[in-house]
Amino acid sequence: GAPVTADISALAEGQRLVLEWRGQPIWIVKRSKAILQALPTLDNLLRDPKSTNLDQQPAYIKGELRSIKPEISVLVGLCTHLGCSPEMKAEIKPEPFDPAWKGGYFCPCHKSKFDMAGRVFQGVPAPTNLVVPPHYYENDTTIVVG
Ligand code: FES
Repeated sequence: GAPVTADISALAEGQRLVLEWRGQPIWIVKRSKAILQALPTLDNLLRDPKSTNLDQQPAYIKGELRSIKPEISVLVGLCTHLGCSPEMKAEIKPEPFDPAWKGGYFCPCHKSKFDMAGRVFQGVPAPTNLVVPPHYYENDTTIVVG
């Protein structure tokens, strides 16, 4: 499919833009400082904290934040278990399914959990992190996916 373009100039912290690319939902999320600071503290709870599986992201996406700009996360919004759409819970506050929740994505189908970088937690059905699609910045506020 053709690349799709998103204007993120009005995207506020904690908000998500949803696009469609190749029939898949693409999420563009602006993360708060608190969320970014929480991400590295989660590493020992995750299955693949450094995203070593290159099927999960382009080679230029590295590190715990899994993004080009620290605050902006771009993900394919489909659970890597059986493809349900996880719910975004972008606040750091206790959740019934995890009192130590630091924000992230929760899949209602079989209870897989991902952090705000789309990294999968241990002990859930989803085998791998959420996919980061190929993307780049055309300018400071324009992202091209594809
Ligand atoms: Fe998400 Fe099964 S489809 S946990």
